[in-house]
Amino acid sequence: MNLIEVRDYTEMSQKAAEYIIEKVRRIPNIKLGLATGGTPIGTYQNLIEDHQKNKTSYQNVLTFNLDEYVGLSGDNQNSYRYFMNDKLFNHIDIDKNNTFIPCGNVEDIEAECQRYEELIHHHGGVDLQVLGIGSNGHIGFNEPGTSFTSKTHVVNLTASTIEANARFFNSKEEVPTKAITMGISSIMKSKEILLLISGEKKREAMQKLLHAEVTESFPASILRNHPSVTIIADQAALAKS
Ligand code: GLP
Repeated sequence: MNLIEVRDYTEMSQKAAEYIIEKVRRIPNIKLGLATGGTPIGTYQNLIEDHQKNKTSYQNVLTFNLDEYVGLSGDNQNSYRYFMNDKLFNHIDIDKNNTFIPCGNVEDIEAECQRYEELIHHHGGVDLQVLGIGSNGHIGFNEPGTSFTSKTHVVNLTASTIEANARFFNSKEEVPTKAITMGISSIMKSKEILLLISGEKKREAMQKLLHAEVTESFPASILRNHPSVTIIADQAALAKS
């Protein structure tokens, strides 16, 4: 794992955007894996600013998002579809038909999981996956205990994840209790991974990621077995508590 240390969230967001922009310019039909949460918002803002200033084009880019809440439609303000449109897709020249996110409000959730996994495969897989990390080590919505062989599947969110994500909702009760997420094996199939870590709340996760053993009880630890991972982490996350 290649670790890039940065000062703060602002610098992390700039560095991450530069990293992605360089790839998009070199490979105009790149397949990007994208993440939600607070961490990548600044990165997306930088991508938008660059698109406006330097005209980096996303016309031929395909995107695959990691996850979506079960039970929310795409026009619900708390869905990850809404988040991605609002924070990125509406502001760049990407074709929305080329932006893929699991559908959270279908009748047959299991079939949706299978469809999504096959869709990624059909398009030849993700070239560069952007990832955040939960404070309990989750990636996507793969909570501790998730099998390393898992493909896209339905998960029950843990109390700590519901608590952490409640800040985006009016109340904790409104946070869905289930989500569809790419599995650990789906994530590990991407050719390259860019992991973003910022803030003191991620300190413990950062230390475990760097030093603890590879174990399903800390999902992000699997990344140590991936051949091409770049971590951009800020000082608050890197500080030892
Ligand atoms: C969320 C998302 C993850 C994200 C993580 C961290 O639940 N499903 O993809 O990486 O939790 O979120 P944040 O960046 O807001 O700390």
